[in-house]
Amino acid sequence: MSLQDIILKRKSVRHYDPNYTIERKEILDSIELAAKSPNGNNIQSTRYLLIEDKELRAKVKPLAYNQEQVETSSYLILILGDYRTFHAENIYAIQDKALEKGYFTQETKTYLTNAAIGYYRNMSNQDYLKELVRDGSLAAMALVLILNEKGYQTITMSGYDKAALFEELNIPQHYEDIMLLSVGRGIQEGHSTVRHDIEDITFIDRVPSLLLGNDGNP
Ligand SMILES: Cc1cc2nc3c(=O)[nH]c(=O)nc-3n(C[C@H](O)[C@H](O)[C@H](O)COP(=O)(O)O)c2cc1C
Repeated sequence: MSLQDIILKRKSVRHYDPNYTIERKEILDSIELAAKSPNGNNIQSTRYLLIEDKELRAKVKPLAYNQEQVETSSYLILILGDYRTFHAENIYAIQDKALEKGYFTQETKTYLTNAAIGYYRNMSNQDYLKELVRDGSLAAMALVLILNEKGYQTITMSGYDKAALFEELNIPQHYEDIMLLSVGRGIQEGHSTVRHDIEDITFIDRVPSLLLGNDGNP
């Protein structure tokens, strides 16, 4: 299937065959591919928690507004961002590895390493969060497309209680949640959804100025 066909065919699927299994290796191979996605300074902040255990899934379900797919899909993956990846040690380690492989010169390594460390140095917590969510979301989209190409169905989810989920799964606070992802064999097609017309979501050169009300708000 072409990329265009996969994009046009994909829909969020909420009902899965609970007896259908996918080999862990296939999920890991898919994640390995998704991890090739672009990411800020190549610090590779995205992590993937594969929630396989069915009893655990049953415990997670009420923390995700009882969404059926949390339990019935073949795999439930919690996509996370790791705040520790902004640390200089991580940046050095990644650039050292690339240098060892001969991907660039010592000079380029020094330049890239210093640029990355400088980029993150004075960021606010909100900036760090944005970095994690950008990188994790790009990887999540790639993973969704890869899994749909394999003939599986998927749904991305943000409908869960983060604090309760982190407590149940014992996740340390240096991780940020990006989203949950269910994957499996759908037993009911997702409903169709509309999208805005292209001219309503694109601007050329400048965004149109807003018409402000008397209170100064759009
Ligand atoms: C970040 C994110 C979070 C979402 N969370 C949920 C969710 O918790 N439950 C749900 O049923 N759908 C969820 N969705 C699915 C959206 O409702 C769906 O993508 C949208 O309606 C468009 O439909 P489509 O995916 O079938 O094209 C989420 C989608 C995204 C991207």
